[in-house]
Amino acid sequence: MMKEQLAKIKEDALAAIHAAGQSDELDAVRVKYLGKKGELTAVLKQMGKLPSEERPVMGQMANEVRAALTDAITEQSKALADVALNLKLKAETVDVTMPGQRQAVGHKHPITMVIDEVTDVFIGMGFQVVEGPEVELAAYNFTKLNTEEGHPGREWTDTFYITPGDVDPKNDAVLLRSQTSPMQVRTMETRKPPIRIVAPGRVYRKDEADATHSPMFHQIEGMAIDKGITMADLKGTLNEVVKSLYGEDAQTRFRPHHFPFTEPSCEVDVQCFECHGKGCSVCKGEGWIEVLGAGMIHPKVLEGCGIDPDVYSGWAFGMGVERLAMMRYGINNLKLCFENDVRFLEQF
Ligand code: PHE
Repeated sequence: MMKEQLAKIKEDALAAIHAAGQSDELDAVRVKYLGKKGELTAVLKQMGKLPSEERPVMGQMANEVRAALTDAITEQSKALADVALNLKLKAETVDVTMPGQRQAVGHKHPITMVIDEVTDVFIGMGFQVVEGPEVELAAYNFTKLNTEEGHPGREWTDTFYITPGDVDPKNDAVLLRSQTSPMQVRTMETRKPPIRIVAPGRVYRKDEADATHSPMFHQIEGMAIDKGITMADLKGTLNEVVKSLYGEDAQTRFRPHHFPFTEPSCEVDVQCFECHGKGCSVCKGEGWIEVLGAGMIHPKVLEGCGIDPDVYSGWAFGMGVERLAMMRYGINNLKLCFENDVRFLEQF
């Protein structure tokens, strides 16, 4: 009787254990048969009612059934854990061939890129980079640059004066610098020749904004002072810079011009990148695009800064960065450089 009962329990329990597909199902089976109120436990409780000669045999059999069920539960539990682990691994597989997610990273503004490119060329030729104030004294912006009262650049209508009150633009007037040339004076006053510097920065003029003008723009000033410096050094240096920006066959043209602080003075044009000198809408039919003013530093300017013009000579130039950038990247409207539209800026 009990023997059949035990055999039946064993059979049913093993079947239920193997059928359990989840660990909680398996646990329920364990409770059902091996728990305090489980079926096997109930049979064992009957043991006392058996005749004494049957007890050891039944006891042994019951123990075997318990051992068999316990083993089967342990095994099934391991099997279920393996299945679960495999499923988890499969779900978490990383496909290393999938394209990554790109992080949006900003980059330098085209104006900054051109400044970096030009200053790099000069650094390669032994020049140092210096920077100076955008809010400047009229003395540095004009007077010390041999630009006396009466010069059109000094007019209220040409320059942003920020001197308080109704002040006449004398030397103590304060203004937004209209050129980077005051950096010539500031450098000469603080360094002894030989001097080789470039000074990039913002300058301000009362210009109406249009395709080629802006009340704020960038210049790079350059200056070399030493014994025996000539106009030929200026030409050689500037040609080198233009070639490194626009390629080996870029052409330059030096035209006589006037600046109060250089003598002789010139303007430098670069042959139009669009039409190669034939004349087109980009160069307004000229075939050439003006990029800078330059010249041999006026003896009066050298002298005013404590440099003897009989011993030393030097040249200086001031180039318009926006012009260079427009040519470099084929930008047709200067405004684009200041609007900060990412659709424009992303193209560089
Ligand atoms: N400062 C002049 C300008 O802005 C350019 C220049 C610089 C000319 C240095 C000669 C020497 O037009």
